[in-house]
Amino acid sequence: MVIFGASGDLTYRKLIPALYALFNQQMLPEKFHIMGVSRTSFSDESFRKKMTEGIRNFSENIHLNEQQIVEFTSNLSYFQMDMSLPEEYSRLQVELKDKKMKEGADNNCLFYLSTPPGMFGTVSGNLGKVGFGATSNGYRRIIIEKPFGYDLESCHALNQQLHESFTESQIYRIDHYLGKETVQNLLVMRFANGIFEPLWNRNYIHHVEITSAESIGVEGRGGYYDGAGALRDMLQNHLLQMVGLTAMEPPSSMAADSIRNEIMKVLESLKPINKEDVPLQVIRGQYMASNVRGEFIPGYREEKGVNPESRTETYVAMKFFIDNWRWGGVPFYIRTGKRLPTRVTEIGVHFKPTPHGLFQKNESCKKCNQLVIRIQPDEGILLNFAMKQPGAGFVVNTVNMDFHYSELSDIHLPTAYERLLNDAMTGDSTLFARADAVEAAWRFVAPIQEVWMNDPAQTIYGYPAGTWGPENADDLIEDKEMTWRYPCKNLSDDGIYCEL
Ligand SMILES: NC(=O)c1ccc[n+]([C@@H]2O[C@H](COP(=O)([O-])OP(=O)(O)OC[C@H]3O[C@@H](n4cnc5c(N)ncnc54)[C@H](OP(=O)(O)O)[C@@H]3O)[C@@H](O)[C@H]2O)c1
Repeated sequence: MVIFGASGDLTYRKLIPALYALFNQQMLPEKFHIMGVSRTSFSDESFRKKMTEGIRNFSENIHLNEQQIVEFTSNLSYFQMDMSLPEEYSRLQVELKDKKMKEGADNNCLFYLSTPPGMFGTVSGNLGKVGFGATSNGYRRIIIEKPFGYDLESCHALNQQLHESFTESQIYRIDHYLGKETVQNLLVMRFANGIFEPLWNRNYIHHVEITSAESIGVEGRGGYYDGAGALRDMLQNHLLQMVGLTAMEPPSSMAADSIRNEIMKVLESLKPINKEDVPLQVIRGQYMASNVRGEFIPGYREEKGVNPESRTETYVAMKFFIDNWRWGGVPFYIRTGKRLPTRVTEIGVHFKPTPHGLFQKNESCKKCNQLVIRIQPDEGILLNFAMKQPGAGFVVNTVNMDFHYSELSDIHLPTAYERLLNDAMTGDSTLFARADAVEAAWRFVAPIQEVWMNDPAQTIYGYPAGTWGPENADDLIEDKEMTWRYPCKNLSDDGIYCEL
């Protein structure tokens, strides 16, 4: 495996700890080699030392074994090169051959592009030029980090560039949300249970809501974020992929393309948002300075690397429809933002109320039946239903039936990167985004990007850091008796864990 961008943050915090976790579970091949590539100067030894530190600091859900760490890191090496220069790749080729001979590893090779996004096309093109795309002798696969393109045009151009050197079946586009256990559990929950699927349609579902909230701000990555924003960074990829899994038809099998075909059909059925409807269906916001739990939080425009007059959104909420038989007329509401009260990602399926309210204070128990799939943190599933309050009369209260993954304490919960790296090694592309799907998602958001870019009169609403975003987002909800879910009414002391 060759990791391009080996001196970077992702390699240190996520990739190497995930690879170690796979090693720890004996899920790596018996013979393997991992080569880190970037421009910074490291010896093999100093690279191993830095990666050991990464494993110690960022491993999750795994028992560290010092001897095993040494064994694992002995399979790491470092190669210094400038990956923008085509002539460097023949040097890399020689180095890889040499390592292969020494290690006796097989011919399979995985290239991980943990590089600045602008380099994805360059690196894949250069790899192709020296014949690294050819698969006659062992597999060659390429993993591409996010963001995949900047808009429909750049995404399409990047797909074309990649296809010049690699076939679609060799390309693995990371959407780390799809690597999360609870996201995959959506498939099992929907298609292995007889009880949910009959209700999973416009006849019984009132609306669907997806929230991905972060409590942190741009964390020193203001320069990158200011050129991206919440629509590109979160909604176009992670949120729309979750919409795909929530709304898809049952696949004919669990084969990668059966599932990806169904996700694709959902993305193709998203009802396009006309430019004139953008202000009615999409609300964007930007966090402003505020005191959060006693701490002063600067506003987005005061962050390092951010243009003081920036109009980049740190929050976006959207209402849309899926034009097909299953979902006709059911509103989907999705939102994501930074500096919200907590970190939480969840899918909320709101069922329609009973046709007639029999009980006291239950004329329309609209919020009685919700199924909430908690993606992070505290992964689990919650079902909300009405119960009689003990005592006289028939007073109706809602109660929760809760399942937390953490209760399965003896089962190792793999991190998203662990799962995805293993899938890429074993050739399972189910949880990776396909070329047509990423383009369909960009096509859907294109009118919004266009309106925001070309019309300076379009509002960007301020919201105080630590709140649930602009109040105007509430107006998106059609049914005035309903609101967005506010999942974290009771915050733990650290402000991260939220109790429902
Ligand atoms: N960090 C995260 O949590 C995260 C999360 C999701 C997605 N991603 C994506 O993952 C990718 C990597 O992110 P990151 O945070 O690790 O970025 P980063 O810390 O900026 O690392 C970028 C890497 O690319 C290398 N590089 C840049 N230009 C190069 C060149 N011409 N030749 C050789 N190496 C070069 C840099 O090394 P040298 O300067 O030493 O050459 C560095 O190792 C990005 O596409 C990002 O969008 C990251």
